[in-house]
Amino acid sequence: MAVALYGLLWALSTAHAELAPPVTLTAEEDHKRLLQLLGIEALRPGVDGRDPNAPNAANYDETKANPYPTLPDPLRTKDGRRVTTAAEWWQVRRPEIVEDFAREIYGRIPQNVPAVSWHVTSTTREKHGNVPVVTKQLRGRVDNSSYPLIDVDIELTLTTPAAAAKPVPVIMEFQFVFPPSFDAGFLEGLRRAAHQWQQQVLARGWGFALYTPVSVQPDDGAGLTRGIIGLVNKGQPRKLDDWGALRAWAWGASRAMDYLETDLHVDASRVGLAGHSRFGKAVLVAMADDPRFAIAYVSSSGAAGAKLHRRNFGELVENIASTYAYHWMAGNYLKYAGPLTWNDLPVDSHELIALAAPRPVFIGTGTVEKGDGWVDPKGMFMAAVAASPVYELLGKRGMGTDVFPPVGAALVEGELAYRQHAEGHTAAPNWPTFLEFAARHFGR
Ligand code: GCU
Repeated sequence: MAVALYGLLWALSTAHAELAPPVTLTAEEDHKRLLQLLGIEALRPGVDGRDPNAPNAANYDETKANPYPTLPDPLRTKDGRRVTTAAEWWQVRRPEIVEDFAREIYGRIPQNVPAVSWHVTSTTREKHGNVPVVTKQLRGRVDNSSYPLIDVDIELTLTTPAAAAKPVPVIMEFQFVFPPSFDAGFLEGLRRAAHQWQQQVLARGWGFALYTPVSVQPDDGAGLTRGIIGLVNKGQPRKLDDWGALRAWAWGASRAMDYLETDLHVDASRVGLAGHSRFGKAVLVAMADDPRFAIAYVSSSGAAGAKLHRRNFGELVENIASTYAYHWMAGNYLKYAGPLTWNDLPVDSHELIALAAPRPVFIGTGTVEKGDGWVDPKGMFMAAVAASPVYELLGKRGMGTDVFPPVGAALVEGELAYRQHAEGHTAAPNWPTFLEFAARHFGR
């Protein structure tokens, strides 16, 4: 018996020893590797969002913003047929769009992603402001028996009002984590802003969850052989249509939802998502991927989010395809930054928004003047307008207008909502408007 056990342990340890460790590449090396796979020498460079006098300064002139004004039609099939019924949308056209986004833009979720087991690591009764709450710290352990050299533990917290007599709606935020060495004033500002929206959520009798995307997948190119993407690939670099970080972050949110569905304090039919900037992009992907999410606040998501890829305003396809951001995307996306153009993309962001239909989506932004031009506020509005026919086909109201609203005006009557607040690159000022919108859809 002891000998057999010893033999088993030995076999296990040598199996482990034979596993190749994760490949180590810098973002630059991995980016170059993808270009080689694509047979591309070099990409067109991105624009400079910081220095308006740079030769490649980002464009903020609306008259130059629409070099490719004709968008792919979300309601025409690949073989040219007009989609006129909800059944054709669900059975024919939507799957075509899903496939294009998977292959060319965000990459595919692998077939064999391992299972996640959730553990409550602590439960605390505390006060959030003046509100008695219960906060659970949770950890979603990804089964790594296929490649034990990579650990993935999904970080999540759930806070619900202690006084709740029945399951409550929950807003789950994709949260940034900054190193403590970051500027103290900046961190304090973020902490205060987070406290405020959380108070607004609690004041409605709802709960909130905080999901940490980078616990699922690191936010850089060098990390692509680690995290969930690296685990599934056993530490090897990605294929051209493998998922990027945005899709992996969205996948993690779905696993968080698996947990929320089991928590008796949560009304799983009323779980909304919120994310800002890169996490606004990821929230849109999560809405497309998982119909269990009821509503979303997509804040300043910009390029590779709600902004049309075909727009020349602020951040461009070329920036997203460069070494600082390409890891968000599928390798295939790089080719649209050279030799192909934005106009060659088989889909555009209005169709990503449409994948959330008929569920409500609130698209928020700051203003160009206050420094949120990089995310192209108007390009995101145009995408929402162009997504509207899909909502209408499904019996809902989309934007309801194609007239760009003035700063501060909330277009919230339909299932697609839009508002530019009067500040810069922040989600904070739009929270009250989003929550009002959510309250209407959740039914108070
Ligand atoms: C950079 C990047 C954007 C991104 C933003 C953020 O500005 O260019 O695409 O949205 O970071 O996530 O804060």
